[in-house]
Amino acid sequence: MSILVTGGLGYIGSHTVVELINHNFEVVIVDDLSNSEKFILNNIEEITGKRPIFYPFDLKRKELLSQVFEAHIISGCIHFAASKAVGESMIKPLDYYENNLFSLINVLQEFRKRDISNFIFSSSCTVYGQADKMPIDENTPLKEAESSYGKTKQMGEDILKDFSRAYQKRVSLLRYFNPIGAHPTALLGELPSGIPNNLVPYVTQTAAGIREKLSIWGDDYPTEDGTAVRDYIYVVDLAKAHVAALKKLINSEEQKVLDIYNLGTGKGSSVLEVVKAFELANNIKVPYQICPRREGDITVAYANADKAEKELGWKSETSLEEALRTTWEWQKYLKEKSQ
Ligand code: NAD
Ligand code: WQD
Repeated sequence: MSILVTGGLGYIGSHTVVELINHNFEVVIVDDLSNSEKFILNNIEEITGKRPIFYPFDLKRKELLSQVFEAHIISGCIHFAASKAVGESMIKPLDYYENNLFSLINVLQEFRKRDISNFIFSSSCTVYGQADKMPIDENTPLKEAESSYGKTKQMGEDILKDFSRAYQKRVSLLRYFNPIGAHPTALLGELPSGIPNNLVPYVTQTAAGIREKLSIWGDDYPTEDGTAVRDYIYVVDLAKAHVAALKKLINSEEQKVLDIYNLGTGKGSSVLEVVKAFELANNIKVPYQICPRREGDITVAYANADKAEKELGWKSETSLEEALRTTWEWQKYLKEKSQ
C-alpha cells in the first residue's frame, strides 16, 4: 500500500517515514527541500534498509503532483508539508497562506478526482490559543490564532472538515503539542535554519557553543517557577501516532470519518525544567539569562491525550530527559558531519 508523505524529508515527516516503512507501507515522498536536506533520504535508507521513492518539487505545482498520482497507486496521505515559522508568518502572511493552503488543496483535489481516502493532517496545539483551562482536550474551544501560521492550521482543519463531509472521506486531524528530540540512531533530527526560535534547538545550540546564552523569555508567569509551561512530546512517539491514526482510517468500515486527536504527553514542563533536564541528561551546562516575556507567548499549554490512548492505543512513552539526550546526540552528529 503506497502512502504519499508530503514534507517527508522534514523533521517530523522523516521520523514518520521510518515508522511507516517499519510497518511495511510503501512510501512516496514529495518534498521541495525548502526546509530539509537530501541527505535525510540516505539516512532513512540507512535506518530502514529501504529507500523511499522521492520527488523533489513544490506541491503548488499541480501538474507535477498529478504525475505522481498517475505513477503510483496512492492509498492515503500524511500531509506534513508546510511553512512553520511563527514569526516569519507575521511578516510574510501571504506566503504562508499560499504555501500552506494551496499545497493542501492541490493534494485534496487529486484525492477527490481519483476517489482516494485516508488523509492525515499535521495540525497544531496553536489552534487552541491560550485555552481557559488545562489540560487541553479536543473539545476545548478554539480561539483566534495568534499568528498567520496558526490561522493556516485552523483554515486547514476547516478545509478538511468540508472535504470529509462533502466527498465522504476519512480524515484525521492531529494536533501536535511541542515536538522535540531526534532519532535514537542520531541519523534524523531537527534542522533549524538560522537562529532557532524554538526552545530545544536553542538550548542544544547553546550547549554546543554555537549560541552564547539561552534567553529565557520571562520568569514572572503565574507558574511554579515563573517560566512558561509546555507539553514536550518526543518525535519518535509522535511519528508512531501517525501510523496508528493511519491504520485506524484504513481499517474503518465507515466511508466518512473525521478524527481529531491531541498528541502530547499530558504533562507540562517549564522552560527552567527543560534546561535542567537537558543539563542532567547530557552532563553539560547551558548558560542562560532571564529576559522579558516574548510577545505573543501563552503562559501554559499541555494536552489531555486520553482520546488518542483510548481510540488509537497510542501514548507517549519517552521521558523528557531521554528525548533531550537524543537531541544532543543529533547535535554531535551534525557537528561531525560538517567537519
Ligand atoms: P519541517 O519544516 O521540518 O518539515 C516540513 C517539510 O515540508 C520540509 O521538508 C519542507 O521542505 C517541506 N515543504 C514545505 N513546503 C513545501 C511545498 N510547498 N512543497 C513540498 N514540500 C514542502 O517541519 P516539521 O517540524 O517536520 O513540521 C511538519 C508539520 O507539522 C508542519 O505542517 C508543521 O506546521 C506541523 N507542526 C510542527 C510543529 C513543530 O513544532 N515542529 C508543531 C505542530 C505542528
Ligand atoms: C517554548 C517555550 C518560550 C525559546 C511554537 C509554535 C507552535 C508550535 C510549537 C507549530 C516558550 C520559551 C523559547 C527561547 C525561551 N509549532 N523559549 N527561550 O512557542 O510553545 O510553540 O512551536 O505548530 O505553533 O508557536 O514553542 O519552543 O518556541 O517555546 O524561553 O530561546 O520556551 O517563551 O515559553 P511554542 P517554543
